[in-house]
Amino acid sequence: MKIYKANILHTPTPDKVEVIPHGFIAVDDNGIIEGTYPNLPPHLQNIAITDFGDRMLIPAMNDLHLHAPQYRNMGIALDLPLLQWLETYTFPEEGRFSDLTYAEKIYRRFVHGLWWNGTMRSAIYATVHRDATILLARLLQESGMGAYIGLVGMDRNCPDYLQNSTTEVIRDTTQLLQVLDGDPLVHPIVTPRFVPSCSGEMMDALGELAIRKNIPVQSHLSENVNEVAWVRELEPESTCYADAYYRHGLFGQTPTLMAHCCYSDGIELELMRQQQIYAVHCPSSNCNLPTGMAHVRKLLNNGIKVALGSDISGGHTMSIFNIIHYTIEVSKIIHAETSGQEPFLTFSEAFWIATKSGGSFFGKVGSFEPGYAFDALVIDDQRLNSSEYTLAERLERYIYLGSPADIQHRFCQGKELSAPSLQ
Ligand code: GUN
Ligand code: FE
Repeated sequence: MKIYKANILHTPTPDKVEVIPHGFIAVDDNGIIEGTYPNLPPHLQNIAITDFGDRMLIPAMNDLHLHAPQYRNMGIALDLPLLQWLETYTFPEEGRFSDLTYAEKIYRRFVHGLWWNGTMRSAIYATVHRDATILLARLLQESGMGAYIGLVGMDRNCPDYLQNSTTEVIRDTTQLLQVLDGDPLVHPIVTPRFVPSCSGEMMDALGELAIRKNIPVQSHLSENVNEVAWVRELEPESTCYADAYYRHGLFGQTPTLMAHCCYSDGIELELMRQQQIYAVHCPSSNCNLPTGMAHVRKLLNNGIKVALGSDISGGHTMSIFNIIHYTIEVSKIIHAETSGQEPFLTFSEAFWIATKSGGSFFGKVGSFEPGYAFDALVIDDQRLNSSEYTLAERLERYIYLGSPADIQHRFCQGKELSAPSLQ
């Protein structure tokens, strides 16, 4: 057992940030929280305490949608809408990952970036390339962070150099499964890029594999108006974009992440709720590409689970802290544009979505309640004049104004993680 003392802040419920000044968290030898206490209870009196003084201890960040091979394009090439952006900038960059030397250089930076930004769990798109994807999985294993890694399937409407066949994507995903078999933190995830990139045959085979091996699924859904219209042409027998995935066994038959959902409405929302889909909100990407804005309040009101994603490199920042405040800002624009009809997201709601709601895809992750994995960050916010603010205000200021340089310690499942090697 280990005991940590600090100013503890977390969101067991979305309506408020729970604050425990100079509180204690007891963590068992498996990295699971035994209890969180304002005062040390008698049964823990004889255990050494790690005291973080006046610093804040908060749940680590979870990024439920990002593309590792797009790391080099972060912050550039944002002058085209989604479909042209893919053709012009994204596919050529992803093509470079047939070269393992290049892949290693970029993937090491990517894994370091996750760690640096305090993102201890993520759901990641790799590329169609088997060896580079396995390399990425191994780098994550070495890092100690938790992740789902997806070998991407795509066999239509993209350049030849970035296509794999149904046989190849099943063979290579199966190999990734074997590489990661039994790993407690890094897992495979079935990853059809999106409907326009995947034939019905490929989606059928991926859906069958996901169900047979009980592997989760990730993809993109209703991100852009032209994309939605294109899917209607490509899959005329489907009642909506989501139904195209559903018919192929890729929509909630196993746990499923769907990025964006900007244009999900009516029967699509109903199918998402029924199939317990996670809508992954990526506000930075939605603004940059510029696709439009997902209505998170509407998703929540329809009983749909919501998580946050950076969507590198449609999104330009890997910091989920930034994504939290973009989530609030975007929801305030929607609020204003609907003449106040749709209540905007509060700070505590957005923090809860990033931590406990997104974390739930990984099990009991994202809160400091008993039974949860100890995924935590120690934040030193002295440079933000912390002594002049309440703890709740300090957290809010850190989210809006802080930097990864202010994160002093990072824990994933009870283990403190040092910086992943860049070489
Ligand atoms: N839809 C299909 N591929 C992609 C991608 O790489 N990024 C985003 N934002 N949307 C996509
Ligand atoms: Fe994406």
